[in-house]
Amino acid sequence: MRRFLLFLLAGLLLAACTPKSEMDRYIDDLMSHMTLEQKIGQLNLHSAPGFISAERVTEDDENMKLLRQGLLGGIYGANNLELMRQCQEIALESGAGIPLLFGLDVIHGHETVFPVPLALSTSWNMDLIERTARIAATEAAATGINWVFSPMVDICRDARWGRIVEGGGEDPYLGGEIARAMVYGYQGRDASIGTDEVLACVKHYALYGGAESGRDYNSVFLSRQEAMNGYMPPYKAAAEAGAASYMSSFNEFEGIPASMNTWLMQDVLRDAWGFNGFIVSDATAIAEEVAHGIGDLQEVSARSLQAGLDMDMNSDGYVGTLKKSLEEGRIREADIDRACRRILEAKYKLGLFKDPFRYFDEDRYAASVYTPENRIAAREAARECLVLLKNNGILPLSKDARVAVVGPLAQDAVAMAGTWAMSSHQEECITLWQGISEVAQASCAEGSWLFEDATLEETVRYGLYKVFIPGFQAPPVHTRPQSALIAEAVAKARQADVVIACMGEIPNMNGEGASRTYIGLPDAQKELLSALQATGKPMVLVLVTGRPLTLVEEDASMDAILNVWSPGSEGGRAVADVLFGDVNPSAKLTTSFPRNVGQLPLYYNHKNTGRPHPDEAPYKKFVSCYMDEVNAPLYPFGYGLSYTSYEYGPVTLSSAEMPLDGSVTASVTVTNTGKRDGDEIVQLYIHDIYATSTRPVKELRGFKKVHIPAGQSVQVDFDLSADDLSYYNHALEWVCEPGDFEIMIGPDSQETKGTVLTVL
Ligand code: BGC
Repeated sequence: MRRFLLFLLAGLLLAACTPKSEMDRYIDDLMSHMTLEQKIGQLNLHSAPGFISAERVTEDDENMKLLRQGLLGGIYGANNLELMRQCQEIALESGAGIPLLFGLDVIHGHETVFPVPLALSTSWNMDLIERTARIAATEAAATGINWVFSPMVDICRDARWGRIVEGGGEDPYLGGEIARAMVYGYQGRDASIGTDEVLACVKHYALYGGAESGRDYNSVFLSRQEAMNGYMPPYKAAAEAGAASYMSSFNEFEGIPASMNTWLMQDVLRDAWGFNGFIVSDATAIAEEVAHGIGDLQEVSARSLQAGLDMDMNSDGYVGTLKKSLEEGRIREADIDRACRRILEAKYKLGLFKDPFRYFDEDRYAASVYTPENRIAAREAARECLVLLKNNGILPLSKDARVAVVGPLAQDAVAMAGTWAMSSHQEECITLWQGISEVAQASCAEGSWLFEDATLEETVRYGLYKVFIPGFQAPPVHTRPQSALIAEAVAKARQADVVIACMGEIPNMNGEGASRTYIGLPDAQKELLSALQATGKPMVLVLVTGRPLTLVEEDASMDAILNVWSPGSEGGRAVADVLFGDVNPSAKLTTSFPRNVGQLPLYYNHKNTGRPHPDEAPYKKFVSCYMDEVNAPLYPFGYGLSYTSYEYGPVTLSSAEMPLDGSVTASVTVTNTGKRDGDEIVQLYIHDIYATSTRPVKELRGFKKVHIPAGQSVQVDFDLSADDLSYYNHALEWVCEPGDFEIMIGPDSQETKGTVLTVL
């Protein structure tokens, strides 16, 4: 106790003696002039009128009223420079005259749209990912946005969850690297925020991707240890990279909603990881704590604030109840001050107090948004995100081949943009049909409905608009009979040398509020596929999707499958680049593709159990397996083909033993044994054979993407130290436990070769 008091005293003395920074003095002074209401107003974030954009704000608009009273700290969802400028002017004239934050869901590009995040992760190229975030930041910053709701770094092991498309897949190590790259892309690598940089907002904190049964917003049931090892590393990496803000998630964890979870927000994020930015709730997440069963809006608002949630997105819980809670002694003024200070600090770091119109620059907009250069970058990015799942040698196609491009996604530009692309020129995205027909002699047909159920198809296609656009009238679906669509496609297929079937998911089939229990191609599309196959023509399936799909039948029946996800503004061209061999595909999966939905959740870094069973082995009684399906995924994590082949040599270590404070180098020689140059993603996995807690059968702890010319070999080295072999033990300490570790290297998570390293 005496020691603690001494420490406390020393800390207080140090704080008293340390000169305050310019920012602290500025904010002290500012806050000393602010009323309680104005401070609470800073904690209030609202969506823009009309959600995405409105031509202007009118005086009777709800936001306008709040603005005039100085009761808004920020606005999100606006994408109209004029409107935002108008709001900023009003904010400066009202209340304490504090400029607004302008947030937006800039998720995978802004006006120029890059492949969806899950697709980008399959590039395993951190420079590329950072570059896409940098371009997105530059474009967003030129349109008045100073805060982006990205990166989304939720680990997900369950393809039923539609939001799997927004993240970097199932692996926490890779997810951490991606989180870092994206934060650097948005904010830059130093502490200052330039005019072409924006604040990042890491989401959804925390564990949102662990939603039970893959049903969106569902509860998360994980142990703290599993959370720390399997899910938290990307959130942590983002904090280390200097992320300015976090968004709390909708789900509960350990019986407490994340948005009022002290362990998550205070103990882990702030105390353990040293995060000192601000935390915003997800949209209406505070109000949703009422439905979670915690209390009324006043109660949940007070508890959220006390747990460390600084800003309320769209619940009006803070602005509506905090004053009352203060008067009733349920919270302290210091709680409000702390949150207000964090938001003012973010505005200060953005330079908004010096120049509130710093991000409103029409010239910059004209020069840097949706430019030909950015579109070239989008094409380059997409080329690295196309995963070749199967190829019996039919690909690459000859440009002389006559191709029939058929399927409901062949001419769908919006499907190329993918989810969260509201600010993009989605209607202008290059479709698969456009990209292919620029290169080869091609015919095209829609071929089928999306779903056989018209009501479902209408809801999936237009449900989003119905929610956000009052009085929206959905255009009719199924306007032509399925049989006529199929007949037309089959006729075109008969006249072609090769059929390219473009099928899968439109963007509304994944993303938020888009969970599925059946994750195969919908029956209407399967019917088309069978009819096309009956023509006997060679078939390439070009799969548009935002999640792993079950493809057992297609894997057996197609000559080739190219998974193109939603590949962005220049998607169709990038796909053609790969189909016709101008680009050798290199992408590798970052999520396991299940054989059937019953295997979910499915992930490569699972535990062994006490009764393990080989992945591919058939059913056996009293071991951990299924009666009707093997344990193995159809396509494993890390898997992806190319037009060349690689051979991996044995794994060697610079030393078979490593002291805890030492390091070793693991090496492998990879030979390109085919006829084409290629880029190979070499992956290093570890397995802690005996540990004080059970450890996964494999854990990714390194990867390198290397260019290997045809016929040549490249030695790939990985430096390993104790940190690379560590994990959170049962007491949640990050430890490397001496003993034997398997060190495995390979082209994917299944095909690895290994050796043993002893840590002393
Ligand atoms: C989503 C967030 C998003 C927010 C603001 C929520 O519904 O969960 O990811 O950033 O809306 O648009």
